[in-house]
Amino acid sequence: MSNEYFYKEFPKTCAADDFWGQVRRTVNGKPVGEDQIAMIVDAVRAGLDLQAADCLLDLCCGNGALSTRIFAHCSGGLGVDFSGVLIEVAQANFARPGRDEYLLDDVEAFVSRSAGVERFTKGLCYGSFQYLPEAKARAVLGGLRARCCGVSHMFIGNLPDRDRISNFYRDGDVQEGIADDPGSPVGIWRSQSQFAELARATGWNALFRQMPAEYYAAHYRYDAVLTPAEII
Ligand SMILES: C[S@@+](CC[C@H](N)C(=O)[O-])C[C@H]1O[C@@H](n2cnc3c(N)ncnc32)[C@H](O)[C@@H]1O
Repeated sequence: MSNEYFYKEFPKTCAADDFWGQVRRTVNGKPVGEDQIAMIVDAVRAGLDLQAADCLLDLCCGNGALSTRIFAHCSGGLGVDFSGVLIEVAQANFARPGRDEYLLDDVEAFVSRSAGVERFTKGLCYGSFQYLPEAKARAVLGGLRARCCGVSHMFIGNLPDRDRISNFYRDGDVQEGIADDPGSPVGIWRSQSQFAELARATGWNALFRQMPAEYYAAHYRYDAVLTPAEII
């Protein structure tokens, strides 16, 4: 099954209010606890240095269940996702017109073509960047840098760490090519140095952050905070 199935069809099999199940934020099939969600929100707020006046662009926002918790700490913003069913859930449950809005679009198309993107001051892409094919990942970061001129910090969260892949595939049996496959269940695994290189090539500096040890995926994931690189 492709990841497209999980974004666009699988959520229809979940209960209407199973917001974490719909985006597969589950452990052993059960939605993660509120303590885990609070750790994510705290990490994003701290990494972005999120302020009340900030306007946030949330790329690959899913059903908005996470976005809404972050929008609550700033002046709101826009979530963008290409899953019709997830955006419908977001619009039905979390939209606050004129403040927190959700849009159905591909993120590359959005950052490269949409008008008015200079209003965003911070950006987020949580649990999703690793599922973008390499060329799309580069186009998204490059488009953000070129067109979202007001974005001072971009938080890219929950990235699978290639240097710690054996913490995930504990039996050491890593299928050939899986770490480079955006369509695999965990997406593309990048080391921090690989990610820093991707950031540099698209006009950003990257700093890396680690979740607390109590976070359920801390042993094989990291977060990146991008800031605009000086243009020389
Ligand atoms: C694992 S979910 C994470 C959702 C949300 N960020 C969260 O953390 O709850 C990954 C999301 O990425 C979205 N996505 C993947 N590729 C995309 C693309 N090219 N454009 C827009 N959304 C995309 C999927 O539809 C899905 O909602």
